[in-house]
Amino acid sequence: MKTVFSGIQPSGVLTIGNYLGAMKHFVSLQSDYNCFFCIVNQHAITVPQEKKTLKENTRSLAALYLASGIDPARSTLFVQSEVPAHTQLGWIMQCIAYIGELERMTQFKDKSEGKEAVSAGLLTYPPLMAADILLYAADYVPVGEDQKQHIELTRDLAERFNKRFHDVFTIPEAMIPKVGARIMSLQNPLKKMSKSDENQKGFISMLDTEKQITKKIKSAQTDSENKIAYDPKNKPGVSNLLSIYSLFTNQSIEELERKYDGTGYGAFKDDLAEVVVSSLKPIQERYYNLIESTELDKILDDGAEKANEVANSMLKKVEKAMGLHRS
Ligand code: TYM
Repeated sequence: MKTVFSGIQPSGVLTIGNYLGAMKHFVSLQSDYNCFFCIVNQHAITVPQEKKTLKENTRSLAALYLASGIDPARSTLFVQSEVPAHTQLGWIMQCIAYIGELERMTQFKDKSEGKEAVSAGLLTYPPLMAADILLYAADYVPVGEDQKQHIELTRDLAERFNKRFHDVFTIPEAMIPKVGARIMSLQNPLKKMSKSDENQKGFISMLDTEKQITKKIKSAQTDSENKIAYDPKNKPGVSNLLSIYSLFTNQSIEELERKYDGTGYGAFKDDLAEVVVSSLKPIQERYYNLIESTELDKILDDGAEKANEVANSMLKKVEKAMGLHRS
């Protein structure tokens, strides 16, 4: 069985962008791959986090993974900071990476732009992400479009390491969905939907109520044509809503275009709101049952144990290959 690794930051409640671009695929990969899914809390601290909020978001993300369908009997679910090998290999990968290539990462440029004080961790975030992936010898990394550049850097770092030392690392490949790899903001469809967006109306969180979801979809930006058609360039707002509809219902975009031919935006948005509400409802119910349970802690403890075993064995190989190990 090939191995899959992916991670999500506990930096706020997940959006339907995270779900449709990543989480939904994680769930479907479980039967065919040996899967590791991580709550990357050490990535989250590259920007300031309040202690209580970080703790809550970590637990909440674990519950959302499970509520969305991650099955601990098949996949390893764990918290990054509970597996020290991530930061240990992260340091090694920082020594393999060049400052220039880290400064060229678009996510670093976006997140640091106009900021007075930028943490060094924000710059060295991609080598830590490379370590996450390489520790598990992952063949595939399911992510949304915005992480593509980081996976390419991971490949470069792994190849550089393998050339300089022994062939230790598996070179991973990004797995990016054809539709849904970039769900856009409901308020500005030229910008990706993000859990850290200051405008709450721009994203739908996985825990939004029926009322909130309906309101956000009704106020989503469209255009004045009143025609349901997929044309991301000229009709980015409507196209984004069509993608969301299609991904939640597994109906193709063409089918939806035919279904709503001649219909106005109002009726389309009413239906979409219903689709999103009814898709999130069972996930939310499972989430609220899990969030306070001791079962959640047990799953994370077991996950950390399994992850530590695999990660430590890879770290040992790396250290041996570099001369960092005495034996
Ligand atoms: P993060 O936490 O920002 O996002 C988690 C996953 O959700 C995807 N995503 C989206 N997909 C479609 N449309 C959107 N609007 C959207 N917003 C987010 C992301 O692409 C991602 O797959 N650096 C990573 C976390 C990470 C990681 C890793 C991922 C750390 N180590 C190792 C994979 C492997 C991040 O910040 O994702």
